[in-house]
Amino acid sequence: MASGQAFMAMHWGQEYISGQGQQGQALAGVNGLTVPTFCPKSKQPELKHAAVNISAAKLPWRLLAVAWLPESEALAARESLKSLMSGFAFASCVPFGREPHEKGLVGVLFRAASAEPASRELIRRIEALLGLDGVDLMRYDDKARGQHRAMRLERTPDGLKLDGFMLTGDISAEAWIRPLLQDELPADAYGRALLSPGAKPPVATAPKGKQVCTCFDVSETAIVKTLVDCQGDTDARLSQLQGALKCGTNCGSCIPALRKLVTLHPAVAPAS
Ligand code: FES
Repeated sequence: MASGQAFMAMHWGQEYISGQGQQGQALAGVNGLTVPTFCPKSKQPELKHAAVNISAAKLPWRLLAVAWLPESEALAARESLKSLMSGFAFASCVPFGREPHEKGLVGVLFRAASAEPASRELIRRIEALLGLDGVDLMRYDDKARGQHRAMRLERTPDGLKLDGFMLTGDISAEAWIRPLLQDELPADAYGRALLSPGAKPPVATAPKGKQVCTCFDVSETAIVKTLVDCQGDTDARLSQLQGALKCGTNCGSCIPALRKLVTLHPAVAPAS
């Protein structure tokens, strides 16, 4: 991008991003910041180019709430969260995850910022919509400084997994907490350290590795590990890999990358 230009993602209407204008009115998403002109015949909006004036928003208080929800509840939760976005100077609410998720879950991420801490009532409503209002959560509260943290853990056959959290005030812990939830990494080693502030992870965890198959969220680390046991020629090994991890069995766009990994990582000969 040339110096003197600015970039902004379009199509982020009030469905996903909103907030409150200086007069307290609800904002209409990013495209509301650009020109309202449109072609009278085709109705195509002329919002792709506009002169801009950028100034820093002074919104030091932050909120981040993220949770995996059952597919049947995620849309209703997003609709209700959307109605709360105009309670903040800035807010966005987006789904995340992969389709199909093997447990039928959809991720919902709500982010907000404002000049002053939000009311406890508003925070509680967001927590309730994301299932973060139970008694079996880990919590930390410092009302005077607007700091609040809540963690919801789930016990699975693979150990403890973080399946929902909220951070308010200082949300720099997002750097390690969000990957823990989104990549569904084991959380057994954390204990109460999950409530630690700051961007530095309190426990060293192995990153999941680069995602190769988007459809089934299969990482390069998992592929390389599985290839150790895949025997035969390239086609045979690829088919064993697909059988074990499902990678490359939906849209197929990752197959060239899978083939490359098959040739780069030979099988380990079985011990005789
Ligand atoms: S990315 Fe679609 S099958 Fe791998």
